[in-house]
Amino acid sequence: MDLNSIELSSWLDKTLLSDADMEKIVEAASRLQQMMMLYEAGIREIKTKLDILKDESRVSGHPSPIDSIKSRIKSPHSIVSKLRRYGFPVSLQSMMDNLNDIGGIRVICPFIEDIYTVADMLMRQDDLRLIAKKDYIQSPKPNGYRSLHLILEVPIFLSERTVPVRIELQLRTIAMDFWASLEHQLRYKSSAAVPQSVVDDLKSCADVIAATDEKMQRIARELHKL
Ligand code: GTP
Ligand code: MG
Repeated sequence: MDLNSIELSSWLDKTLLSDADMEKIVEAASRLQQMMMLYEAGIREIKTKLDILKDESRVSGHPSPIDSIKSRIKSPHSIVSKLRRYGFPVSLQSMMDNLNDIGGIRVICPFIEDIYTVADMLMRQDDLRLIAKKDYIQSPKPNGYRSLHLILEVPIFLSERTVPVRIELQLRTIAMDFWASLEHQLRYKSSAAVPQSVVDDLKSCADVIAATDEKMQRIARELHKL
């Protein structure tokens, strides 16, 4: 038994819940577990497609358009705070209907063109449905953030039904990932407002990184021609 369940059980003892309440809690926990299982399955389905693309380039002797893949499931705590922040009801149905980023995959690519190769490859697959696309590479955020975001819907085949599950994909270069990871850390480090000089410095780093990504892409193209 881990620390959380010890705390939960002593809280449950103290509050003297009726058997009916207890049953409701267990039922809700079990439904949450089933829902998380669906998102894990969705991530696995899309990761398998990405792994196949990596294998295909390895076998054909071409450099892989994918450097690495990371994934995560949003914690119940973050799910509830996001639902509250957007004013959505806090329920399992609301979470499925309103949140697109419970299951997330981040694909890190060597070059900018690789990002579009991977995205096009996924969008060509007829079992995946593109729900939304935000191209923060063509139109970077004012702070300098660059990435391609896709919301994809993947069918999960259960024994008696098929459930569509939405997964958020973030595709970026190694350099964009370096910037985004550090910017995220710095932004969440303190609750105080970030000074304008830091905002400006981060933006100029993003611009230098973008110029370097473009230069590396040109070099890769030149080398490819040799
Ligand atoms: P969220 O409410 O954060 O999910 O935003 P959204 O629904 O408007 O979606 P958007 O596509 O803008 O952002 C989704 C995710 O991309 C965020 O949760 C972050 O993981 C990442 N992201 C977006 N903007 C930034 C940024 O400025 N910096 C960093 N480091 N990450 C970002
Ligand atoms: Mg998010």
